Amino acid sequence: MKTNVRYEQFVIKADGKLTGTVRVPGDKSISHRSVMFSSIAKGTSQIRGWLAAGDTEATLGAMQALGVQVERHDANTLTVHGGQLTESSEPLDLVNAGTGIRLLAGIMVGQDFSSVLDGSSQLRRRPMKRITAPLGMMDADIRATNGSAPMHVTPSQIKGITYDMPVASGQVKSCVLLAGLYADSPTTVIEPGPSRDHTEVMLSAMGATITREGSAVTIQPTNNLNPIDITVPGDFSSAAFLITAACIVPESDLIIEGVNLNPTRTGLLDVLLEMGADITVTETGAEAGEPVGDIHIKTSQLNGIEIGGDVVVRMIDEFPVLMVAALCADGDTVVRDAKELRVKETDRIAVMAQELRKLGADIEEREDGFRIFGKQTLSGATVDGHDDHRIAMSMTVAGLISQNETVVTDAACAGDSFPGFAELLIETGASLVTG
Ligand code: S3P
Repeated sequence: MKTNVRYEQFVIKADGKLTGTVRVPGDKSISHRSVMFSSIAKGTSQIRGWLAAGDTEATLGAMQALGVQVERHDANTLTVHGGQLTESSEPLDLVNAGTGIRLLAGIMVGQDFSSVLDGSSQLRRRPMKRITAPLGMMDADIRATNGSAPMHVTPSQIKGITYDMPVASGQVKSCVLLAGLYADSPTTVIEPGPSRDHTEVMLSAMGATITREGSAVTIQPTNNLNPIDITVPGDFSSAAFLITAACIVPESDLIIEGVNLNPTRTGLLDVLLEMGADITVTETGAEAGEPVGDIHIKTSQLNGIEIGGDVVVRMIDEFPVLMVAALCADGDTVVRDAKELRVKETDRIAVMAQELRKLGADIEEREDGFRIFGKQTLSGATVDGHDDHRIAMSMTVAGLISQNETVVTDAACAGDSFPGFAELLIETGASLVTG
């Protein structure tokens, strides 16, 4: 059984190339969805390769609080007995999981009992109006607290709507589509950019009728979802730390197998290739309707690039680590249209700029992105993970190319999405000590 051991800090030195053939843990987005959707399906679902991490465990706990029976064969293998959800006597605690709380809200508004959705102080700072506004248009009775969690849901009859989504968001789209399952007529979401489509892929595989016309996705209401039998592919967003590290650490030659290659997730690959990265992708098959394959990375000479438009949402979680790659590139890298980075677990533009500056980096922050001047030499320092998994792991990658030792404190959050991150880096040859 792979356990999620959490370490308070990582101490990194820039010696050791990254080599070998590795796998990353299961996809976080798909793992959240697999547990939620199988809980409301009629029958018994099997889930293998499930991500046992902080965020997904929070979602699993919430579903169990709603009366769902789950057999845990090992950390990553679950049998979920779906059916009717039942009222929880306690608020549902989604801890740090933004995907967990926003998607579950879409399900809870369709239930015939009340609920309270809540989470950590970090989650309570995140904007929920983006879901309560469209859910309100659907006649859902959901009240946020100053626009955030806790959110109080009271039963009501949901009506189908057409929602023109102001920001491209996989979470908002999924929340509205899930509420649409319980509506009195079809629901359509029009998206301004190609956000991840795992909800559409999985619900379709479970028998829901979902159609897409251009940027409009329509779901027909149903209370008859079939159970699923899936193996969750590796998380591209976890692989991203290794991909970037292998690009910038000298003499690296690394293969990552079994990674989800859904094009709504792999924007970083397109960007790194355009920057000149030596990366080869081989699609090997499909899991649960998602393309899967191997990624082979060799140390690369990168060039600066301008990034904006549709690719931004396809790599929204990868910007912190892209900033590290950009520091190694020849020429400047400019990112625009990425304002959403400011409302993630932290304000990822401000926090990455702040922490990279501690290593000596010169970065210009912009309202909707940043300019990074290439090529820079980093010096080691003590930096902070800010209880944001992608910050802690990106700063660890920065440590791999810094002169002198880098210490990443508040690193336990890496376990929110990537259990075994430190161990895997060590396995590939990185000089990293956990503490
Ligand atoms: C996710 C959607 C994205 C992403 C998050 C996971 C999902 O958030 O940042 O890590 O699983 O739907 P937004 O929808 O807020 O962009």
